Formats: sequence, C-alpha cells, structure tokens
Amino acid sequence: MAHRLTVIGTGYLGATHAACMADLGFEVVGLDTDAAKVDRLAAGDLPFYEPGLEPILRRNLAAGRLRFTTSYDEAAEFGDVHFVCVGTPQKRGEYAADLTYVDAVIEELAPRLHRPCLVVGKSTVPVGTAARLAARLAELAPAGGDAVLAWNPEFLREGYAVEDTLHPDRIVAGVPDDQGAAERAEKVLREIYSSMIGEGVPFIVADYATAELVKVAANAFLATKISFINAMAEVCEAAHADVTKLSLALSYDDRIGGKFLGPGLGFGGGCLPKDIRAFMARAGELGVDQALTFLREVDEINIRRRIRMVDLARELLGGSFAGRTVGVLGAAFKPNSDDVRDSPALDVASTIHAQGGAVTVYDPQAMDNARRAHPELTYGASVQDAARGAHVVLLLTEWRQFRDLDPADLAGVVAERNIVDGRNALDPELWRAAGWTYRALGRP
Ligand code: UDX
Repeated sequence: MAHRLTVIGTGYLGATHAACMADLGFEVVGLDTDAAKVDRLAAGDLPFYEPGLEPILRRNLAAGRLRFTTSYDEAAEFGDVHFVCVGTPQKRGEYAADLTYVDAVIEELAPRLHRPCLVVGKSTVPVGTAARLAARLAELAPAGGDAVLAWNPEFLREGYAVEDTLHPDRIVAGVPDDQGAAERAEKVLREIYSSMIGEGVPFIVADYATAELVKVAANAFLATKISFINAMAEVCEAAHADVTKLSLALSYDDRIGGKFLGPGLGFGGGCLPKDIRAFMARAGELGVDQALTFLREVDEINIRRRIRMVDLARELLGGSFAGRTVGVLGAAFKPNSDDVRDSPALDVASTIHAQGGAVTVYDPQAMDNARRAHPELTYGASVQDAARGAHVVLLLTEWRQFRDLDPADLAGVVAERNIVDGRNALDPELWRAAGWTYRALGRP
C-alpha cells in the first residue's frame, strides 16, 4: 500500500499533484528536465502563483516526503507509480496538440522500468494516445507486461488547484483491455486515491479512449457554455437587453445552472482554447469532424468578444485610439492566477496598442509573465498607476481588488471618466452615480 510515487513534469499540474500526494502521506519524487525549475521547487519556491500551494510544498519538503530531480534513473529506481504530467500545447500554426513531451517521457522512462510498476498518464491528450503509448511502453520496458499504463485525467482549475486535487468532483481511471493488467491498475489507483474515495468521490473505471475523452468533452462543454452566454450577449447588444439579468434568470433552471454562464470577455488560458482545437483536429482524423463543427463556432464567438471589447473602447473615445491613453486592469487569463497564456486581457491590450493607443497594464500577480509575453506594452505598479491620465479604463480580468474599486477614488487620477467592464464585474449604478460613463459587454 505504501506506494512510492514519481510525478514527471512539474508545471501547474505536476507541481500541484506532487505536493498534494506528498501531503496525503506518500513519498514523492518530482522530475522535470528543466534544472532551474527543479532547483526552485527543491528550495520551496513555487515558480508560478497558485494560492495555498507553497505552504504544502514547503512542509512536505521539510518532512522529507517530497524531493525533486532531473534524473530519470533516480525516478525509475525510486517509484512504483509514475504520473505523467507534462504539457500538450497547441502545435504552432495547427489545431492539433503537440505530443512531443508526452512521447519523450515514455521514451526516457520505459527503458529504465525493470520491476512491475504503473505508469499513469494525467496530461490532456487526443483520444487514442494512451493505446499508442501503452504499446510503446510494452516494447521498451525491460519489465514488459509488468509495466502497466493507466489513464487518469486531471480536471484541476488554476487558482483552485489544491482544492481540486484533494477534493475532486470525480476520479476517472482508464485501464487496459487485458483483464489482469486492468485489475492491477484499478487496484493501485484505488489505493492511491483511497482517502478521496472514502469521502464519497465517484471513481469511474473505463477503457483508455473513454477516459481520454472525458477530459476533452468536459472542457468542450465548459467552453460551449461560456460561448453560449456570450452569443446571447451579442444578441442582447443588438436588442438593447441585459445579458447579466438573462444569465441570472437562466441560472435558476437547475438543468442549466449558473456556473460557467458568466458573460464577458470569454475564455483563455492554457487549456480551454487549445483543448477544443485539438479535439476538432482529432475528430477530423477520426472522420467525424462534423460532430464537432459547433466547436469552431464556440471558438469564433469567443474571439469575437475580444474584438467587440476593442470596438467598444474605441467607440467611447470617439472612433480612434490615436493620441489616447488607455488604462488596462488585468493581464492574467482569469483572477487568482499569474498565467497569461492566451489571455483575453493581453490580447485586447496589445490590439489597442497596435491601433495607436497608449496602453498601461496592471495586474496583481501576472506582471512578470505579461512583460515577457508582451514587452511592447507599458506596465504600471498599481491600479492608480495604470489609470493615471487615462481617457478610458478597461476592466479585463475580474480580480477581487478590481471588483472592489471605489469609483470616486479612481476618478481622481483619470483624464476622462470612461470605464468598460469586460467581465460584468462592477455595479453600473455605483459607477454612473460617481459621474462615470459605464459600458459593458452584453448590456445596454
Ligand atoms: C479549465 C477547466 O475548468 C479545468 O477543469 C481543466 O482541467 C483545465 O481548464 P482553467 O483553464 O484553470 O481550467 O480555467 P477556468 O476556471 O475553467 O476558466 C477558463 C476561462 O473561462 C477563463 O478565461 C475564465 O475567465 C473564463 N470564464 C469562466 C468565463 O468567461 N465565464 C465563466 O462563466 C467562467
């Protein structure tokens, strides 16, 4: 029962998984090929912002249950369960997922597996990947059929990574067709997640393909829900209706539910956009592209919100950004994260910059990442700094700090009291009462 775990790939997913598994009492070795990242993690220094994770990392390092390495020899020697947590980004110029990192893990790890063990894929992959990797594992591992592959997708959200890892909505275990191997894989995964299963978390056993699909189907559904309400926002804009009231009224129908029905600038980040695109690409390969053509619409509705945001800001400024100052609040793709991958906020900011606006951006956590991704933009050290002299202020990521802004305070630093609320996060009455021209996506 006292499994020794390795976690290969220590990004958002892997670092969280490694620290949380150690916190459950397992001995864990985290492996990454990036030596700088390994050094930081080993020193208890989290290379990204994730609320609540750093204390867990530190106490498990201190307790000696958790360490980090760049050595596959060490990982293979140590572990009897190996979690694969590397990234599967979108390929450059294509919709498909880039599987280079997942493939590389199997190529490195498998030849070093001399004893019975379980390799558990957690990365988000196109359906069919697990079967392909299982064949490769059997071919390369000296342990042969005793090195078993399972697929156990991860559903964590950035900003809630610890909570989602320790208290997941469900656990999905994709197991091989071979009955003996399937039983072994299921037994080990049940042991590893026993504390969660004991608390009533559903444990669903499936074949590889179904397990892989659960993850991409979930993300496709979430993206669709967001784009649905944002499509309604487009209609509301044309019909002079209020999408926030529409969304609220819809949410009371418990078949619909209010989560992921928040209208605004739409989705970004390292998962939803690339996952729906990779899903479409894979459906094409499987000859069922028609089944997912709606996801192209989902993607396009999402991108149109960014364009609409830029248009709204330009409209407020009388039709041109030239010679105008724009204060941008938010750079992360969502609050409680420092992740700027496919960030709607930065996309809007850089478009306005390209159209001649003088843009200053502020974000509570994502400044370093934003500077690296968009060095052309100017960055302020505070909300006031970003808004100073602005002809329009844009709220693009709904951090608590921005939701709680006092319109009277901000009025003191801007050149003109214009605000566009890209996340429907502010109270229009409050801002209008303080003399601001308030505009929002999907509202009259
Ligand atoms: C997502 C999935 O939620 C998670 O289960 C999966 O494992 C990885 O992808 P994450 O990318 O961390 O997680 O962010 P999430 O909280 O899902 O938000 C995604 C985007 O949707 C953000 O840009 C957010 O601003 C946007 N969003 C979310 C909306 O625009 N409206 C909403 O109502 C909810």
